[in-house]
Amino acid sequence: MSVRHRAFSGVQPTGRLHLGNYLGALKPWVTHQDARENIFCVVDLHALTVPEAVDPRQLAAGSRQIAALFLAAGIDPERSSVFIQSHVREHSELAWVLNCVTPLGWLERMTQFKAKSEGRDSVGTGLLDYPVLQAADILLYDTDVVPVGEDQKQHIELARDVALRFNHLFGEVLKPPAISLPPVGARVMGLDDPTVKMSKSIGESRPNHLVGMLDDPKRIRKVLMKAVTDSGCAYAPEVASPGVVNLMGILSALTSEPVDSVAARFEGRGYGYLKAEVADAVVAELEPVQARYARFMDDPAELDAVLKRSTDRVRGIAGAT
Ligand code: TYM
Repeated sequence: MSVRHRAFSGVQPTGRLHLGNYLGALKPWVTHQDARENIFCVVDLHALTVPEAVDPRQLAAGSRQIAALFLAAGIDPERSSVFIQSHVREHSELAWVLNCVTPLGWLERMTQFKAKSEGRDSVGTGLLDYPVLQAADILLYDTDVVPVGEDQKQHIELARDVALRFNHLFGEVLKPPAISLPPVGARVMGLDDPTVKMSKSIGESRPNHLVGMLDDPKRIRKVLMKAVTDSGCAYAPEVASPGVVNLMGILSALTSEPVDSVAARFEGRGYGYLKAEVADAVVAELEPVQARYARFMDDPAELDAVLKRSTDRVRGIAGAT
């Protein structure tokens, strides 16, 4: 009998989910849904690590919306669990236990901590401790594989190291997880500046930075047609500018056409043609997701029932750990 690998992954309920979240995480989750046993979590406790960015009245509603987006993207609650982190108390409990075996130096080295704490007068302990809670999320469920975007690589490596250290001290208890990155789409770059990763926080102040999963087709087309490229017409991935490489990657991740083939098809044509095709592909992909999302938001009882079933299911696993 073949044993299916268990996948665990999570998304923070802060800001608007964007094309990077979709191509780096949600879409690959759906693609591999049948091959794995899946647990997907809205990590509301992680959102508290930047308290200024959280409206407590909005957090519960925002978490439900993200759960609805998982389902709208194609996660089938019969085959996968979808739940909210704070509803399973073992996440906080294991985080405390893991805190006690995690050297402070490991956390101080995390690049995401350095970036998020830079230039601030005061930084909450939770921001430093963020990766330990993430390790707890993963290790609670005997996770084999963590499907995420490239920016999470260091955090997954830390989860592995924490598991190995715990096992070294106390015997084989925790399973060291592996990361799973999509072949394309693991690092979608900003549309207004393709040298930085597309991110929710930058998108708040720069309207042309990202495409949101719930943006209307008109806005999606407008932002993509404005995407920064260059003044030439080079497509070969070795010589094309970062903005062109980013757009070809987005198209490839959506259509499964290899980047080399996209490049060959557009060779000699202006970038406007590429942008228009990317915009069509994004709209075609997101429109049905948006329609399903609207249906889930119209039926709170159905969403509640799905979350409850999943929470009951995962509590059994978390409690045993
Ligand atoms: P978060 O909420 O920042 O992002 C959610 C997922 O989207 C991916 N992602 C991207 N992928 C490609 N291109 C981008 N520009 C891009 N931006 C974001 C992220 O890699 C992620 O997969 N720490 C995590 C949440 C978390 C978690 C976990 C993940 C908490 N516990 C346990 C996995 C397992 C985070 O902040 O993701």
